[in-house]
Amino acid sequence: MDKALQSGKTVGRPDANRLLDWYDRHHRSLPWRVAPPDARLGVLPDPYQVWLSEIMLQQTTVSAVKDYFTRFVGLWPTVEALAQAGEDEVLKAWAGLGYYSRARNLHKCAGVVCERHAGRFPETVDALKALPGIGDYTAAAIAAIAFDEPATVVDGNIERIISRLCQIEEPLPGAKKPIRIKMAELTPESRPGDFAQGMMDLGASLCSPKKPACSLCPFTGCCEAEAAGTMERFPVKAPKKEKPTRRGAAFLIKRQQDGAIWLQKRPDKGLLASMSQVPTSNWFDKKEGEAFTPDTALFSAPEGLDFRKRTGQVRHTFTHFHLELDVYEADTNRSQPTPDGWWSEPAALAGEALPTVFRKVLDLGR
Ligand code: ADE
Repeated sequence: MDKALQSGKTVGRPDANRLLDWYDRHHRSLPWRVAPPDARLGVLPDPYQVWLSEIMLQQTTVSAVKDYFTRFVGLWPTVEALAQAGEDEVLKAWAGLGYYSRARNLHKCAGVVCERHAGRFPETVDALKALPGIGDYTAAAIAAIAFDEPATVVDGNIERIISRLCQIEEPLPGAKKPIRIKMAELTPESRPGDFAQGMMDLGASLCSPKKPACSLCPFTGCCEAEAAGTMERFPVKAPKKEKPTRRGAAFLIKRQQDGAIWLQKRPDKGLLASMSQVPTSNWFDKKEGEAFTPDTALFSAPEGLDFRKRTGQVRHTFTHFHLELDVYEADTNRSQPTPDGWWSEPAALAGEALPTVFRKVLDLGR
């Protein structure tokens, strides 16, 4: 039945079949997917690949993930192979994707699937959620896509679509509950995985944050925001807190004879745990950091080296703060760094577990 809006206009009920027809024609071809003609015949994708892609896609875009996904599947074609890899190897292959606790949980989860589930991913949302690194969204996505379970899948794109279809005025994150209820009502019993992926593709294309292409949308005529012309107002979001800024210094120490760089392993807890880094000072809140001059920076530099400050600064944003790093450079003849770390030769650098912030330090020093 149509619904009357305040303006007097009416909109139809959104129909999952319209979205599925649209997905059949306009789906993205992605390496972890089964194409719709095969999916309609009941072919399901490899749960290992679905899980791997969903973990990689958290907080990241499809274009950033594709090459990593292909490399991981090449290195570790099965969950057993991944479970047998060393954590360091997995962190190296993950370097650059960010949110490194995901990589550690990925490896842990592969171990649990092998030890407790004989190498087969469980099929229900609840059993999937009991695995390391799998939350509500990922459990629902795996259950729907890999096992054809009509689970309710809600990611950021889907939040935008549903909040527009139903003009949900409550700001996020409070709106998550009503959005989930609407998505559950809309999710079909048949092809729930394609439905979820179709919604993701719609959000990544036509139902964009700015200037959505409503005339091409499969839900045209049944979207409240389209009828009211209010699309860009949704989803309504609570104002964001400003992130604080921290400051510090990074020390780029080069071995003269071959250009090798001194790297260290970060502690196994906390931010960027177990990843590699060049030596750094502590990172201070910007207010304290105002007093953070080249002299104070050099207090925390490795001893006995003659540092020059590079012009420019490295800036990087983490989940909870912005970071500004001054970069100091020194050359040395010493072949054995102390007290910890190793020399990474130029050919080995690309394969190190170096997070993007430290790649930026290397780039500034080139
Ligand atoms: N984002 C998260 N999961 C996805 C998927 N399966 N397809 C496309 N985009 C996604």
